[in-house]
Amino acid sequence: MRIAVVGTGYVGLVTGTCFAEVGIDVTCIDIDVNKIENLKKGILPIYEPGLEEMVMRNTQKERLSFSNDLATSIQGCDVAFIAVGTPPGEDGSADLKHVLAVARAIGQHMTNYVVVVTKSTVPVGTANKVRTAIEQELEKRGANIPFDVASNPEFLKEGAAIDDFLKPDRIVVGVASQRAEEVMSKLYKPFLMNGHPLIFMDIPSAEMTKYAANAMLATKISFMNDIANLCEIMGADVNMVRKGIGSDVRIGNKFIYPGIGYGGSCFPKDVKALIKTASENGYEMRVLKSVEEVNENQKSVLFNKINNHFKGELAGKTFAVWGLSFKPKTDDMREAPSLVIINKLLEQGAKVKAYDPVAMKEASHTLGNTVEYGKDEYETLIDADALLLVTEWPEFRSPNFNVVSRLMKDKVVFDGRNIYDAAEMREKGFVYYGIGVKQQVEEEKVTLG
Ligand code: UDX
Repeated sequence: MRIAVVGTGYVGLVTGTCFAEVGIDVTCIDIDVNKIENLKKGILPIYEPGLEEMVMRNTQKERLSFSNDLATSIQGCDVAFIAVGTPPGEDGSADLKHVLAVARAIGQHMTNYVVVVTKSTVPVGTANKVRTAIEQELEKRGANIPFDVASNPEFLKEGAAIDDFLKPDRIVVGVASQRAEEVMSKLYKPFLMNGHPLIFMDIPSAEMTKYAANAMLATKISFMNDIANLCEIMGADVNMVRKGIGSDVRIGNKFIYPGIGYGGSCFPKDVKALIKTASENGYEMRVLKSVEEVNENQKSVLFNKINNHFKGELAGKTFAVWGLSFKPKTDDMREAPSLVIINKLLEQGAKVKAYDPVAMKEASHTLGNTVEYGKDEYETLIDADALLLVTEWPEFRSPNFNVVSRLMKDKVVFDGRNIYDAAEMREKGFVYYGIGVKQQVEEEKVTLG
């Protein structure tokens, strides 16, 4: 089989590379000349564990190629994936201009039957717009070439995208014809080895599935954050509550970790877009509106704890920040809660020394030199008034706390991801704040501090 993947961002690049990995002939297309030149040299625009080696391997085997030329690359393809960006417009709705521009280009240049698949997260109804755009272009050309549209949402997690693609829990494909179903079945056959299903459905349902999945996951997180905040007030420990409820298989033990709010390129954008789609169609997503509101508040929870601890006197204080990316194993800074926390600290005149294992370069695009960057996590601690654990990178889980204590001016830890044990930390002499864990009583702090 031969396929084209248009858009070499996160989704497109992982999709194209993983299809090449199973032996399919893939051309990844992008209008960005620089990006394509770099990809040809093996320089990737994003960090994703294992992806670079996989790109190199498949390029060498000549199963994976990169091109700026959609007109030529689309010819002879069985399937064309549209995996370009759908940035949120001012009003929260997904902007389809890139998706439709690609659809038009496909219509202008296709020479044979092709299944045009939307892979980008797009609102319900987009595949129909793609179909119309292609039809219009074919009509202009006076060409009578059959084609189908399909919707194939991605469920990749950054940091684990290759595994998610190669061993998916499920593959969802929305189709409107038997022919498209057959092509998509053949394409995905190599990925069904672990017995997980390839689920065919109508196109609007597939488009909705993506939003419903992300909205449900975001809901779990905001729900747990709400519970965590209440636990604190009531003297309960959310870590215990999480274990208690997570052992019920109907609830499940995944995605119920409270923290400093969800970030990234998907949840914030998709939750907003779904609320918007509903309201445009006369329906109010009441649960999701609260999910979003809770998430916005949650990004301030750690700052509020810091502000309370230091009684509002943050000017001149130094804060060590561990972790900048929105989650571990990625350099993605989109909607990263770290940005909200750091900016609030800077506004109060505090000094921030930050370290992230991979996102420092990405972070410096947004934060510039408003913060100092440590060469490792320990360096950020020198003379710090407090440590803020913001992203739960594995290497931050078990630091040498003797060194940590020695380097810090004041032994105060604000753990935004509950990766440390409150009792152990307090035994080690730290003043410890977690999310939804029992607060340290004032006398304890004085004796320990
Ligand atoms: C998500 C979906 O998981 C994926 O299926 C979809 O295709 C794209 O969006 P991703 O954005 O890579 O993937 O990140 P994910 O691992 O889902 O985490 C999203 C956010 O939720 C992060 O900010 C993370 O820190 C937060 N989170 C996650 C929590 O706060 N608690 C949890 O229990 C889980």
